[in-house]
Amino acid sequence: MESAAKRKDDSVSTALKTEQGGIVVLDFGGQYTQLIARRIREQQVFSAILPCTTSLDEIREMDPAGIILSGGPSSVYDKDAPKCDPAVLAMNIPVLGICYGMQWIAKQLSGKVEPADRREYGPAQLTLEKCESHLFNEFPQNLKIWNSHGDNVHELPAGFHATGKTANAIAAAENHAKKIYAVQFHPEVNHTERGTEILRNFLFRVCKAEPKWSGAAFIEETVAAIRAKVGSHHAICGLSGGVDSTVAAVLVHRAMGDRLTNIFVNTGLLRKNEFEHTLEMYRERLGLTVIGVDASDHFLSKLQGVSDPEKKRKIIGREFIAIFAAEAEKLQKGAAHGDIKFLVQGTLYPDVIESVSVKGPSATIKTHHNVGGLPENMPFALVEPLRDLFKDEVRRIGRQLGLPEEILVKHPFPGPGLAVRLLGEITGKDLLTLREADAIVVEEIRNAGLYEKVWQAFAVLLPVRSVGVMGDGRTYGLTIAVRVVESGDAMTADWVRLPGEVLEKISTRIVNEVPGVTRVVYDISSKPPSTIEWE
Ligand code: XMP
Repeated sequence: MESAAKRKDDSVSTALKTEQGGIVVLDFGGQYTQLIARRIREQQVFSAILPCTTSLDEIREMDPAGIILSGGPSSVYDKDAPKCDPAVLAMNIPVLGICYGMQWIAKQLSGKVEPADRREYGPAQLTLEKCESHLFNEFPQNLKIWNSHGDNVHELPAGFHATGKTANAIAAAENHAKKIYAVQFHPEVNHTERGTEILRNFLFRVCKAEPKWSGAAFIEETVAAIRAKVGSHHAICGLSGGVDSTVAAVLVHRAMGDRLTNIFVNTGLLRKNEFEHTLEMYRERLGLTVIGVDASDHFLSKLQGVSDPEKKRKIIGREFIAIFAAEAEKLQKGAAHGDIKFLVQGTLYPDVIESVSVKGPSATIKTHHNVGGLPENMPFALVEPLRDLFKDEVRRIGRQLGLPEEILVKHPFPGPGLAVRLLGEITGKDLLTLREADAIVVEEIRNAGLYEKVWQAFAVLLPVRSVGVMGDGRTYGLTIAVRVVESGDAMTADWVRLPGEVLEKISTRIVNEVPGVTRVVYDISSKPPSTIEWE
């Protein structure tokens, strides 16, 4: 498997100056590792997550001002306990160990780590020692902190002094001569009082990092890096209508103008008016060159008779790639674009981490649809200008690039589109029904001022009919389920307690305005155990 640092060679961001002098977070598989990286970036210092097994040379390549060793689910005494190269503690670069990171440092430098008599999970009180501390300089004596560990450091290695304790354990320690720092708790979570200040102290007092990683600098350096990479060649980009591919395309367009051609495929599975509306926005408001391919009939015929959700997904993925590849080939053959060498993708940092992450520790390795997917023999080098960014950072960059707010706040939409919201076999007639009902849900959520407050709001067409009565007649009509969820990252989600009036409006409008629908139900399931989408 390639390492994150090596894959960066493919990225346009390799040369970014503002990324040097940042923080390398070595990942032991902790649940909060991404959060550590984000908290650092919020301080305008770049941070990169690398597997704990990353070599010293690769770490040095990043020229970091400091190294953070993350938490992790293992005990340092487990047979397969994840490890770093011990020499990271002797590179003369400041190190902060968090939770497992602290225990690993203690064990490595001949301290003592033992299973705790009492495991500490959740809130605890930290009492600071009366001693010199770089991390807790001028802090009050007591702080509420957030713990999640089973082992404790019982004896610190030589050269360290304890700077804080909880009722059960040494909670923080420092070795000023070696510039090694350790905390047993999690300064990166909101439940830890003054956690951000602790991280700031590490960044600015200990590592002397410069807060130079800003959106404006990112845009300027990325545009310059893309120009240097693509030279006078051409590039293509697949647009989905979502924020990631749009921001990626606008950045690349800034760098190379009309030598970037975008392809936007209408699968016929988009929301009401979405294809026409988005195409117009791309062309008229963003000035992008876009080939719009209407392949609705093609997708519909390929999906005929298929009701298994995974089969639907596979067919849609396969056909999408085939259409994209055919368009790319047409362009490639055309005189004006005889020299397309690059493919632009809106891959984000979490996709990269998931795809290359740690061997050993907890993270599952999965091939994301953005990273894998395209045929190996497509003759393009990748340009992935967002591969160092988190989603909220992409939105901020988009805003700075002047993208319309409507695209920046748009709800996530699955790649297979309405196909996974129309349960069972897909027909053109049912798609029309679902699209109309979905448009009403979204419109009423907007009217209630809730669109930007919820994660997703949509309609699902169920493959059940139920008895109803309309006018004087008995009906046997379709059922629409309404799904509105709140979430931070789609990993977990809860259904939104919509006001009764909003639900009433949605329900009344759907049965009155969408022919054939006689029943509307509201989905009150959380994730887990349900998922957000129905298929
Ligand atoms: P679930 O249904 O797994 O969805 O709770 C989590 C988030 O991912 C979106 N989603 C998809 N996105 N291709 C995508 O690009 C897919 O096949 C897919 N399935 C679900 C979903 O809308 C939600 O935001």
